[in-house]
Amino acid sequence: MNQLLFLDGCVRGEQSRTLALARHFLARWQAQNPDWSVEQVDLAALELRPFSGAEVARRGEQERSGALDGPDFALARQFAAADRIVLAAPFWELSFPAVVKLYLEHISAVNVTFRYAEDGRCVGLCRADRLLYITTRGGSYDGSEDECGWRQIRGLCGMFGIQEPLLLCAEGLDDVRNDAEALLAQARAEADGLAEFF
Ligand SMILES: Cc1cc2nc3c(=O)[nH]c(=O)nc-3n(C[C@H](O)[C@H](O)[C@H](O)COP(=O)(O)O)c2cc1C
Repeated sequence: MNQLLFLDGCVRGEQSRTLALARHFLARWQAQNPDWSVEQVDLAALELRPFSGAEVARRGEQERSGALDGPDFALARQFAAADRIVLAAPFWELSFPAVVKLYLEHISAVNVTFRYAEDGRCVGLCRADRLLYITTRGGSYDGSEDECGWRQIRGLCGMFGIQEPLLLCAEGLDDVRNDAEALLAQARAEADGLAEFF
């Protein structure tokens, strides 16, 4: 059975507009893909901690020796094995909450999610062909160099070998000049379109 991995980085839980948008997308998508299973990971509940120097050294040693089947790489193995991935996270400090960054550090594992080629390039080892990044933003950053969330996720997809990174975004939601509900309705309509082919 094909598996979609749903990574929930929506720290505000039931209050989160990003999570509501992601759930809308997933319900639509699942209705059209009943033969797929969805595995959900609550990134905050993982309670990941920043790596210490000693942990980085231990991971590097395991990567070099090929001991990649232990708990240190469980999240990376799960990410690499998923057929399709949805990552939902609000826009915080121009990117995303720290729990997402911690997760990304944990899954970036040499010879699990990517490897280095002879010429130093990164070659992706992940099975997923598409990753959908769902976010909502208080302000409007479309096309702005200040936006570091989607840019980072897109770059990592290249590193992990995920060919088609996609974005679903509702922005300007905290701008008093905007009708946030109308913007979210527009994003839900976009989600319906994405669910047709994702
Ligand atoms: C801690 C924190 C940091 C934020 N940083 C930004 C930011 O840098 N730029 C911005 O436009 N909005 C920022 N926002 C606003 C959120 O992006 C916006 O309200 C979003 O819709 C929240 O998503 P959620 O309802 O899923 O939590 C921030 C909100 C919080 C709570």
